[in-house]
Amino acid sequence: MASALRPRPDGLVIAIDGPSGAGKSTVAHLLAERLGYLQIDTGAMYRAVAWLLDQAGIDPDNLEAVKRLCSTVDIRLERQAGLQRVIANGQDVSALIRTPEMSLMTSRVSALRPVREAMMQAQRRMGARGGVVLEGRDIGTVVFPDADVKFFLSASAEERGRRRYLELAARGQQVTLEETVRAVAERDLQDSQRDLAPLRMAADAIAVDSSGRTVDEVLDSMVDACRNTLRTMGTES
Ligand code: DC
Repeated sequence: MASALRPRPDGLVIAIDGPSGAGKSTVAHLLAERLGYLQIDTGAMYRAVAWLLDQAGIDPDNLEAVKRLCSTVDIRLERQAGLQRVIANGQDVSALIRTPEMSLMTSRVSALRPVREAMMQAQRRMGARGGVVLEGRDIGTVVFPDADVKFFLSASAEERGRRRYLELAARGQQVTLEETVRAVAERDLQDSQRDLAPLRMAADAIAVDSSGRTVDEVLDSMVDACRNTLRTMGTES
């Protein structure tokens, strides 16, 4: 939709942006599966960088040290037995990056220029051939402003907080619903008010509100939009 509608070698570049807890990971995974595309969870990449900085004891205010780490960082997203694994400099950090502390730390680290530049380059490389579903905050606005289909997925703050709470509780984490709703609101504020690549909807994105809708309803409407674009390109009848 946004681009000049030129097919890419491996298919569409699909951007799914939106605030935390809107259900991006779930629909990105299912959409990628339906289309036979690769799912790229860019939030997981930022989380992995935050984790590496934390492990190395680097203060996020020390931009020179952050830059040095970013120049050597190697983050891979792999799917093993149906689950996404995040490998940072050779170590599987999939579970380690999903704690509430890492969420807050990532929100801070993802506002740093050297981190954003390194991740943007990596994401552009990973998506260059198309056939990808990238989920994040700035995919349709900054990383792939020429993405073929852009979605902005949202849901009410209460619903997003409740979903995050259930996710964390299912993983056995000791959190309260109230704390989780507050943390979601805090991160929204940090993510949308930062100077670099703040969370905002691209002018040509399709707004999808997942509040009160089933995953299947949301997914079906997204698949339809992608198939329409493929038809317009003449790559699918
Ligand atoms: O989607 P998530 O909750 O895993 O994202 C973790 C943090 O990374 C969140 O604070 C927003 C930030 N992020 C970002 O700044 N840009 C992206 N493209 C993806 C995530």
